[in-house]
This record gives sequence, structure tokens and C-alpha cells, in this order.
Amino acid sequence: FFKSCQPPPAEKQKQSIQEVRRSLPIFPYREDLLAAIREHQILVIEGETGSGKTTQIPQYLLEDGYTEGGMKIGCTQPRRVAAMSVAARVAQEMSVKLGNEVGYSIRFEDCTSERTILKYMTDGMLLREFLTEPDLASYSVIIIDEAHERTLHTDILFGLIKDIARFRPDLKVLVASATLDTERFSCFFDDAPVFRIPGRRFPVDIYYTKAPEADYLEACVVSVLQIHVTQPAGDVLVFLTGQEEIEACCELLQERCRRLGSKISELLVLPIYANLPSDMQAKIFNPTPPGARKVVVATNIAETSLTIDGIIYVIDPGFCKQKSYNARTGMESLIVTPCSRASANQRAGRAGRVAAGKCFRLYTAWAFKHEMEETTVPEIQRTNLGNVVLLLKSLGINDLIHFDFMDPPPHETLVLALEQLYALGALNHLGELTKVQKNYKCSEEILTIAAMLSVNNSIFYRPKDKVVHADNARMNFVVPGGDHIVLLNVYTQWVESGYSTQWCFENFIQFRSMKRARDVRDQLEGLMDRIEVELCSCNGESAVTAGYFYNTARLSKGGYKTVKHQQTVYVHPNSSLFEEQPRWMIYHELVFTTKEFMRQVWSRPSLCSSF
Ligand code: CDP
Ligand code: MG
Repeated sequence: FFKSCQPPPAEKQKQSIQEVRRSLPIFPYREDLLAAIREHQILVIEGETGSGKTTQIPQYLLEDGYTEGGMKIGCTQPRRVAAMSVAARVAQEMSVKLGNEVGYSIRFEDCTSERTILKYMTDGMLLREFLTEPDLASYSVIIIDEAHERTLHTDILFGLIKDIARFRPDLKVLVASATLDTERFSCFFDDAPVFRIPGRRFPVDIYYTKAPEADYLEACVVSVLQIHVTQPAGDVLVFLTGQEEIEACCELLQERCRRLGSKISELLVLPIYANLPSDMQAKIFNPTPPGARKVVVATNIAETSLTIDGIIYVIDPGFCKQKSYNARTGMESLIVTPCSRASANQRAGRAGRVAAGKCFRLYTAWAFKHEMEETTVPEIQRTNLGNVVLLLKSLGINDLIHFDFMDPPPHETLVLALEQLYALGALNHLGELTKVQKNYKCSEEILTIAAMLSVNNSIFYRPKDKVVHADNARMNFVVPGGDHIVLLNVYTQWVESGYSTQWCFENFIQFRSMKRARDVRDQLEGLMDRIEVELCSCNGESAVTAGYFYNTARLSKGGYKTVKHQQTVYVHPNSSLFEEQPRWMIYHELVFTTKEFMRQVWSRPSLCSSF
């Protein structure tokens, strides 16, 4: 099945793209699908990953006239990477420039224009569109794609879209999902019919380990090399939990291949995770050169959102990184946990798209049966709801308790979110949105800090072979006050350098993150301008406390205790205040990783007197 690595001439390529389109499992159902959409306002569409739901359905709708009169077709994706890569693919299939007829919109990056009629976007972006266009009047069709992922934003969209569909009978709503949970979607949308696209799946043999693996990263590396030397041609997909693990795995693989030298054939090692620069992401889709083997090391982004052709072997250690939230303490944690059986089965399915495949599960058959949950808990039930509550309130939805949730969030989480917004003055005693516009004469600085916090953990670059240099460079930015002020200092110095790449390089600062912070800051500045809040600088004085009084902790026996819940928490060793241990602190967030840490802390002497 190896494809030629020579790119075919443009005309031929166009033809072969059309051939590929016609070869997808969805193609034979094109007419039936369009007929079903004509007949029903809401349709649930179920189909195996790679069957063509995301790339083809919007094109079919376009061909069937749904964009006449300048109407748009919108398709949501839970992940930024998927929104971008799918839009790029569809633009290519339609031979148009990305951003013209086909575009995408993700937070802080809008690649659409007046001409855009097929719009891919993150679910969060469509939610924001409700603010400017509450009935989504410019859309003729909304596709809520990857519905099975049950992200927080997708779940909120379900409720909102079900509501507007009632008074917009012309709006078509398609809920697309991998082969999971479709009955539940149908049930939620008043028994909407389910259109099933039969998959073309080859059998996948599943292998378990006999005993649990002590080190699954090492086990992955060994398994890849074993496949490479013992198994017939075919690419490998490895599922890990995050960037750090993926980078470590890729490094180990490259290192061992170097040592084996010409004893083995070429192994192309390619990482994929959300924060990877997009040119690097695109590489995973390149065909494997003849005689070589490709290994894609991915987060669960490759479970259903992205389809990589040519995968025959899957290695699944059985873990994912999952967010959970404790409403009692306000602590969010991101921990590596066993994935669900549904996830494991999706992962295995990735091996059987082009031919019979093999899935190597690095856990025991017993663990699969007894230690894994059946399905993943929807995000809405394990996250802080502050932002969502604010958004729903600004849409005029005041009664959140009776909002039409597919699975309602825990009562305490909702109450805590309301309580926090009330305490901040964003809601009044009736739970209505207020017009808070207090300006502490430091909006310039706060904008910078907010922008820098939004790219939070990727400002400082710390390569393994230059740890000492990197740490010294970081120390040079430390100023009294704490991490927020350090971030402000980094940004200010970067501005003074003329937004220099060289400056970033010399100071071990990630240029890409800074550039993103600058984009975020520009957008925030635009928003401030729109609501006519004056930008002013405090020239060094600051008012971080006003927005953060909820997040206060005081020094107590070896750690800190939060004022609100008397929870024991710690300063992260990376913090500029780690050594200093001031009596009072304010933190940006509480995160449990290896310990209960406060992330981004701030303090100043006068803080003590404020309490
Ligand atoms: O949404 P679904 O998982 O059903 O499939 P899709 O994303 O529409 O992908 C259909 C096919 O398009 C895949 O099998 C790939 O061959 C191709 N594709 C691609 O080449 N590059 C992309 N970025 C996305 C899809
Ligand atoms: Mg898809």
C-alpha cells in the first residue's frame, strides 16, 4: 500500500483527490444522506472515524444548494488542530485557497473572509458567535461534529442549538459522531433519526501484555522497535498522554535508531499534539517513502479527530491525561489516568482502516475488563464552570439550574461558579450580569498579564542539554512581587527589544508563545476599545488583588492554607517566590499534579494589611 513519494503533477493530483473522495465509505450514501437531511430538521450521523463525515458532508451540502443566498455551513470541532487541518484538506479538495470559500476559526485566529461559506471552527468559537448572532441567522446548517467527545463547549452547544432549532425551522442540525453513544444523542434531540454509515473496517487483532508494564514509555519504545524489525510493512501509531511524554518517546526512538544505524531500515518518527507548530503537524499526513516505516506518536487527538492513512499497528498503553475538578476546594487537576474502554476500542480501530491490523495493548486483559471505565465522563461534570456560566448569563440565560443539559453538571460546581462570579461583582444578588467596569488605572499591565497567563506554561524554554543556562536566564527576569510581575517583565522587555526573535533565543523564551501572547493582547485591547474602557498604565503599581481576592493563601506549617477552604497548598518550585515564602499569597489557579500546587503566585508586603 505504499504510495509514491513523488508528488504527481497538479492536474493529476486534482483527479486523484476526486477519486479518493469517491472511494470513502460515505460516498455511496451521498444521495440517501442528502434525502434524510431534506426530510428531517435534526439528524444524528454515525460513522466510523475516517469514513468522510467531516470532510465530505459539508461539501455534499454545498453541492446540494445549502449555501445559496450567501448562507453558511458551519462545522464544529472540539480541537483546534482538527479544525485547521480539516479546513485545509477541504480547501485542497475544492481547489480553493484556504480562508476564501473554505475557512476556519479558532480562538485568536480567524482564517475566514467575506467569501467563506464552509466554516470549520472550534465548538468554543461557535458558542461565542451566539453573542453576536443569537439565532445563528447566517447559517443554513450547523454540524456539531465529534459529538461523542462530549467537551464542555459541545455539551453547551447541544442545549443552545436544540433551543434555536425550535424557532428556526429552516435551520438544519447535524450531530456527527463516531460509533459511540448515538442513541443518547437521538434521545436528547427529541428522537431525531440516526443515519448510520457502515464502516469498512478490516479485522484488528488485539494483543495484551501478560503482566502490567512498570514503565509504559519504555514499553512503547521497545514495542515500536520490535514491530519495526519483525513485522511486515505498515505504519505505527502510538498513543501517549501529552507533549512531554511524546517528546521523550520520540527522542528515545531516534536515539536507539541512531545506535542501530544501518542494521534497520529507515524509521520516521513524527510527534503530534495540540501545541505542536502547524507545519510540524502537517508532516504526519505525508506519505511514507518506500522502504521506510512511519511512527506517529500522538495524544488522543488521533483517536477520532484526525485520520492518518496507512496505519496498520497501534500501540496503546491505555492512559490519557484527564482534567478533574473538586468544587469543594476549587482545585483542578490534570492527571494521567487509565482511559475508558470506549477510548481503547477507538484506538484499536485506527489499525484497521486500510488493511487487517494489529493493536498492542500494554496492559492486561484483566485490567481492560476490570480497571477501565466503560466510557469517559463528560467534561461538563469534571471542570470549573466559571467561564461557561458567564457566557450563558451574557446570552440572557438566567436559570441555569433548568438549562437543557444532556448530562447536568454537579450542583455544587454550578453553585460555586455562581458564588465566585457574585463575589467578583460580575453577578448581582439576583444572579444577573452586572456591568462591572472598575478601572484600577492599570489596564495596560493587566492586559499583558492576562495575555501572558493565557499561554501560561510555555513561556520559558528549558532544553534538557542547557538546563543551567535556561534557569539562569529565567532568574534574570525575577522582580519582587511574584510570577505575574515576572510575566509582565518578560513581555515588557520583549516589547523593548522590538518583538525580537533573537532576544527570545538569547533569553530562553519561546518566541511562538510570545507571539501568541501578543496576538491575544491585541485582541483584548480591541475588545477594551469596543466597550470604551480607557487604557492606562499604573507604571509599576498594580491591582492584582481586586480580581483575585478569592484565591488567597497564607503561610502555614511548611505550606500554605487557602483562606476560603483551609486547603493545604504549595508554591511550585518553578515560581519566583519559591525561596521567599511570603506570609500571604495570591494564586492564579490551583492545580494538582504531583502535589497541590498554586500556579502563578503573587505577593507584596501591603497585601498583609489588606486583610
Ligand atoms: O470525519 P471522519 O472521521 O468520518 O473522516 P474525515 O475526517 O472526513 O476523513 C476522510 C478521509 O479524508 C480520510 O480517510 C483521509 O483519507 C482524508 N483526510 C486527509 O487526507 N487529510 C485530512 N486532514 C483529513 C482527512
Ligand atoms: Mg471527523
